[in-house]
Amino acid sequence: MKIDLLKFVEYGGCSAKIPAKQLEEILKQFPLASDPNILVGIDTHDDAGVYKINDKLAIVFTIDFFPPLCSDPYEFGQIAAANSISDIYAMGANPALALNIVMFPSKSIPFEIYTDILRGGFDKAAEAGVKIIGGHTIDDSTPKYGLAVIGFVNPKKIITNSGVQAGCKLILTKPLGTGIVFAAQKTGFVGSLSISVEEAKQQMKLLNKSATKIMKKYNIKGATDVTGFGLAGHALKMAKASAVSIKIKMKQVPLIKQTYSLVEVGCIPGAAFQNLEYTENDSLFAPDLDYNLKMIAFDAQTSGGILMSVSADKADDIINDLHKSGLTSAAIIGETLMLQEYPLIIEN
Ligand code: CO
Ligand code: CO
Ligand code: CO
Repeated sequence: MKIDLLKFVEYGGCSAKIPAKQLEEILKQFPLASDPNILVGIDTHDDAGVYKINDKLAIVFTIDFFPPLCSDPYEFGQIAAANSISDIYAMGANPALALNIVMFPSKSIPFEIYTDILRGGFDKAAEAGVKIIGGHTIDDSTPKYGLAVIGFVNPKKIITNSGVQAGCKLILTKPLGTGIVFAAQKTGFVGSLSISVEEAKQQMKLLNKSATKIMKKYNIKGATDVTGFGLAGHALKMAKASAVSIKIKMKQVPLIKQTYSLVEVGCIPGAAFQNLEYTENDSLFAPDLDYNLKMIAFDAQTSGGILMSVSADKADDIINDLHKSGLTSAAIIGETLMLQEYPLIIEN
């Protein structure tokens, strides 16, 4: 049976996130958990929480789920799982165990579609070496899928968004544009078989496993993955958590094919404007900044790449390693500076 999952969703993937601004307002009302073993908590807005078990072992814990962003259930399952597991990789940890989280309209979609979504999730988890050991499903009008994932890490080797130092280069491992390309597909700007849609799906299915292996090889301390808040939003969270300024040069940022031309013809998803609103007051935009590149910086990514800060003298070696591992779009996209008036600076 052929079902187009996109018929059941308003917005899919990480574009469906609640705006960061509102989320922060709400979370502020709750006391921070105090426990010396909490190595990474809510306060730094990192990819996952980290809890120390002993001097050699910490658990890294995360959850992510969202509505479909593509028509095919198996591909949706793969992308959702790769996205959920990514937060564990972004912390420099090894993903190990997961639970399925599923919302499924059992009265309007046949169960074989549910099975295909789960199959995509199981296959992607297996590729990451993750064992799915349970889950929870409820009936809901919009399908949603994702994983709660646990990973393990040596507490001394955690990679955080607060570990960035000034004077480093910034590397991004995957091209931007998944939000724009899928919004374009949904509104009929591009067909479902276009090369951009295929490239975006390939990128989103790609695990951040090899990027993390390379980060560990070079002893990287500061990184995050780029998802719903866009490159600019996640860079700002990282700059604030690390008390540095981050400068991004948009012309160096790798893009999925046609991303720029789609923005040029007006295909800018609503989530990009929400992300802009969230970062605007903390950002300095170069006066000559190209408007299309600016909006691309705010495009919500699903299962995006790793944004890492690396020492300037190692940057070229790391790029070489990333390219050799198959991450052929990886590029140096900016630098980190001593904290200036604005934590985030965006130039052409
Ligand atoms: Co993340
Ligand atoms: Co996440
Ligand atoms: Co249950």
